[in-house]
Amino acid sequence: MKSFALAAAAVALTMSLSAAQAADDPVAARKALMQSVATSAALSGGMMKGDIAYSPAAGRAAIVSLNAAALSFGAFFPAGSGTAANTTASPKIWDDAAGFSAALAKFSAATGAAAQASGKDGPADVDAFKAAVGPVLASCKSCHEAYRVQK
Ligand code: HEC
Repeated sequence: MKSFALAAAAVALTMSLSAAQAADDPVAARKALMQSVATSAALSGGMMKGDIAYSPAAGRAAIVSLNAAALSFGAFFPAGSGTAANTTASPKIWDDAAGFSAALAKFSAATGAAAQASGKDGPADVDAFKAAVGPVLASCKSCHEAYRVQK
C-alpha cells in the first residue's frame, strides 16, 4: 500500500522538477502528465473496487497528483504542437480554444474540489474517497472524445 502512495508522490515531484525541459518538449510534458493522471486514476479505481486496500494516505496521494496535473496540463499546448507525429491531441484544441479551456477548467475544478474534500490526511474512508474522486474520473471521457484523436 505504502509503495503506491510513495510512487504517486514521486510522480508529482518529478513533474515539478522537469518543468524546464517541459518547455522544450511540450508534447512529452503533456503526455507525461496524462500518464501520471492515468496512474492515479488506476490506483483510485483499484481502491474503489476493493482490488487495492484503501488508505487515506494513498487516497490523498492520488487526488493531489490529479490536481497538480490538471492545474499544469493546459500550459503545454503551444501553437504548432498539434502536428507532432507522436501526439494524439486533436486540432480542435487550437480551433476551439475556448471549448478546450472550458474542459480544462472543468477538470481542474473537479480535482480542486477533491483536494479540498480530501483534507490534509486524505478522505477518511473509501466512501468519502469515492465521493471526492468520482467527478474527476467522470471528466476523462468527455475531454478525450472532443479533444483527442485515435491514431
Ligand atoms: C481537459 C481534457 C482532458 C481531460 C479532462 C483528460 N485528458 Fe487525458 N488526454 C487529453 C489530451 C489532449 C491527450 C493527448 C495528449 C497528446 O498526445 O499530446 C490525452 C492523453 C491521455 C493519455 C495518453 C498519454 C500518452 O502517453 O500518450 C492517457 C492515458 C490519458 N489521457 C488518460 C486520462 C485519464 C485517465 C483522465 C481522467 C482522470 C484524463 N486523461 C483526462 C486530454 C484530457
